[in-house]
Amino acid sequence: MGMLIKGGEIVTAESRMRGDIFIEDETISAIGTGLAIPPGTEVIDATGKLIFPGFIDPHVHIHLPFMATFAKDTHAAASKAALVGGTTTFIEMCCPSRKDDALEGYHVWKQKAEGNSACDYAFHMAVTRYDAQTEAQLKEIVRDGTTSFKIFLSYKNFFGVDDEEMFQTLKLAAKLGVITTAHCENAELVGQLQQQLLAEGKTGAEWHEPSRPEAVEAEGTTRFATFVEQTGATGYVVHLSCAPALRAAVEAKVRGVNLHIESVLPHFLLDKNYAERAGVEGMKNIMSPPLRDKRNLPVLWNALKTGLIETVGTDHCPFDKEQKLLGAKAFTQIPNGIPGIEDRVNLMYTYGVKRGGLDIHRFVDALSTRAARLFGLYPRKGTIAVGSDADLVVYDTKYRGTISAATQLGINDYNGFEGFAIEGRPSVVTVRGKVQARDGVFVGEQGLGRMIRREPQV
Ligand code: URP
Ligand code: ZN
Ligand code: ZN
Repeated sequence: MGMLIKGGEIVTAESRMRGDIFIEDETISAIGTGLAIPPGTEVIDATGKLIFPGFIDPHVHIHLPFMATFAKDTHAAASKAALVGGTTTFIEMCCPSRKDDALEGYHVWKQKAEGNSACDYAFHMAVTRYDAQTEAQLKEIVRDGTTSFKIFLSYKNFFGVDDEEMFQTLKLAAKLGVITTAHCENAELVGQLQQQLLAEGKTGAEWHEPSRPEAVEAEGTTRFATFVEQTGATGYVVHLSCAPALRAAVEAKVRGVNLHIESVLPHFLLDKNYAERAGVEGMKNIMSPPLRDKRNLPVLWNALKTGLIETVGTDHCPFDKEQKLLGAKAFTQIPNGIPGIEDRVNLMYTYGVKRGGLDIHRFVDALSTRAARLFGLYPRKGTIAVGSDADLVVYDTKYRGTISAATQLGINDYNGFEGFAIEGRPSVVTVRGKVQARDGVFVGEQGLGRMIRREPQV
């Protein structure tokens, strides 16, 4: 039985038209106006609504052993939260620690997701150590369809790689045609500054940002870009948070380095005042790179509008209040991370498109199409075209609401964007032609999601 989504305003990264979309066998089989309705067709009336390609979150943590605990999430819960918010595919960071075997870790992550996700997904494979086994293991992982790597320049002795390991990883990535994503902060400086601040009795959450100042991120970004340049690799800076790091990345781009830039939801909407709140309220807002001085926010928005910042992820990484309190005596022990998978689309639509002058096509590009192109999902994902997966978001621009932990689907006990107004919400969300969410409610099939295997792309 087919499905017809009728009479909506179809908005992609490139175009806008009123029309109908016909879906058969999980894919889009026709786009046009006044399409015939064969008997037995399920019809969804999209009159007065926008239709976007399913959104893609390129930076998500679900299973994550980190900072003496585990991120508080499951693939079942995170995928349902993603879907009600319009995200139909996420790319999870597969992050075994430096002590773990990479291939074993990869299988652990895959097993956690398999059969449990309600939306489609892929992985970035973190390289947290480079030894004699690494090349063979990474080749096997790439053959399995995981064709993007992740390195951390920070989190020394846990996820972090040194410069030699970064060089080896990038060289191999260039050889395999795989893009390498990177968390860019200077690990040594962070460690030294943390010790210095603690020794001065500066233990509260408000000292997290001073322990990882903007210059520390700019240095990491410059160094990553230099290594990308010297190895002929393709790089992708994750969660870029501030003007000096942006300048460093853009400086590399203009000299021809194959470097791409992602920023994430918290850095567009929250500033360091949130992390300076007393007690656990401040701890809830600890992530790395940290929330920054508010003068950075318009810089990031402008860079997004002009396309210098190419993608917007969430860096979804929930820890509950009890976990955050692990850092009650020292900010260095506060688990780093802020959840956001449920709210990225609505918040970026509201504060970008509706209120901030962000072009609607750039919005679609940054939250879906560009990630699909960079990470080998396009044109299966990231657009509305005949032959593409029928991952669609019928979007109700008339909806008005307020974000709250009390009404969220996510299982964490707080929401990083509590109290933010939203002007728009998905009305119907399909994954490969199956309705998975309606008006904020998950109505679909748990476990429908599949791992999307990708080809090398660069
Ligand atoms: O604070 C953050 N960003 N937590 C998740 C791990 C990472 O660095 O992406
Ligand atoms: Zn990171
Ligand atoms: Zn992350």
